[in-house]
Amino acid sequence: MRTDKILPRYVFIAHFDRAPLQQLARQYRIHGEIPARNEVLRRLGLDLAKIPAEFGYRLCQATDAEFAASARNSAASLIELEQHLPVQEREILLKVLHASIAGHHSATAQHELRVAKLCRWLGAAIGLPANSRTRLFQAGYLHDVGKIIVPAANLDRAGSLDPNESDLIRRGHLIFGYYLLTQFTASREAAKIIGFNHIFDGNTPEGFSFANITVEGQILSLVDYFDAITEPRKYRTEHYTTKQALTFIKERERDGFRYDRPLVAAFEQLLKNGV
Ligand SMILES: [Fe+2]
Repeated sequence: MRTDKILPRYVFIAHFDRAPLQQLARQYRIHGEIPARNEVLRRLGLDLAKIPAEFGYRLCQATDAEFAASARNSAASLIELEQHLPVQEREILLKVLHASIAGHHSATAQHELRVAKLCRWLGAAIGLPANSRTRLFQAGYLHDVGKIIVPAANLDRAGSLDPNESDLIRRGHLIFGYYLLTQFTASREAAKIIGFNHIFDGNTPEGFSFANITVEGQILSLVDYFDAITEPRKYRTEHYTTKQALTFIKERERDGFRYDRPLVAAFEQLLKNGV
């Protein structure tokens, strides 16, 4: 494959400085070695994280089609990169996408990793097959990647946001992230789970509803919610203990906020056993 044909297209957004990436990509093509590749991937992820704050503001109140187009444009070079990777190596893109959020807001990336592990454990606890557990891990690992369009400072000050800023956090990150992940064959299966993640808040991409929610969708939603209310976050002084969180989740069931009961019971058991 000729590298000079594709390298000029390694542009994420207009602001991106191409030179360092071109150099790294060339290195990757020539050597194909693990250290060189990891460096390329790390840089690709970090550069995706450089999407400026104004990018997100333009997407306030955007339609699904606008989110999809923006996701395609922002990740154009990564999408192309994936097409040039052998199928068995495409999972690397998952690490790139995770690195992008790690470069933007590390607490979010840590939250994703905890959610990924818990999702896989819960999947195992209720007897889901290996491929489903893998999908669940990937979904947890990437479910907040859309937060790259939310200014990092806003992720730490949820209490004092204007309506557009909170729209971006509540709905925007999920819709953008979903469409971003549908662009890659490596993350398409995870996206099918992530689309359900905020269903209880009424924030889903087109085509995701209570009528077609999957058990995997419920698992991600439950685990993400649990982790979000139990982890310390900069913008609040208190967070729930495990016990309080489980009580809260069950209490919300009374208001129609309801996960499958056996799933919640299995999750409770899992936490009791001290995963
Ligand atoms: Fe989350």
